[in-house]
Amino acid sequence: MAYTAKDYGSLIGMDGFSDALLNNHFTLYQGYVTNTNKLLETLAAMARDGRGGTPEYSELKRRMGFEFNGMRCHEYYFENLGGKEALDRSGVLAQKLAEDFSSYDDWEKDFRATAAMRGIGWTILYLDTLAGTLVNQWINEHETGHLAGCAPILVLDVFEHAFMLDYGLKRPDYIAAFFNNVNWKAAEARLKERHPSQSASA
Ligand SMILES: [Fe+2]
Repeated sequence: MAYTAKDYGSLIGMDGFSDALLNNHFTLYQGYVTNTNKLLETLAAMARDGRGGTPEYSELKRRMGFEFNGMRCHEYYFENLGGKEALDRSGVLAQKLAEDFSSYDDWEKDFRATAAMRGIGWTILYLDTLAGTLVNQWINEHETGHLAGCAPILVLDVFEHAFMLDYGLKRPDYIAAFFNNVNWKAAEARLKERHPSQSASA
């Protein structure tokens, strides 16, 4: 089954994000979808043809983490943007953040600090689905640093292509623009889906 690139055109016009930046970003995302499909097809053909034990197969297999996560992380990111409403401070997500990080503000400080780290990658608020707790994590490039058994709740792209066209080196300004456009309902829905007790208490 091939993956299909999703259309995030509805995000055009979002405050703090130029059309040019968003359109470039959509094109980059589509490239990850294309490459994920190519890799899956090529690897399957190589294994079928008895070329599974080759260095070429091994290197392409390692590449999957980069292309697949490049595709999927962008989908989480675009889907948790375009929000029009502030986080409901009495909702399950705000309450869970306050519980697991002492306060909502302490969570946001840690999330922003993670996002401001030097380097390219992603900042992800994860739900550890086994322990039932939230954690902020840095992902290097697309594939290094993901936590096993954790589900993304809020995803922020901090590759330079995500902000330099509009903000230059002012990454904190981009992070502020991100916070102004978070789709908190989407993030909260992820929490409810992956943490049944949060759903039950909603
Ligand atoms: Fe990106």
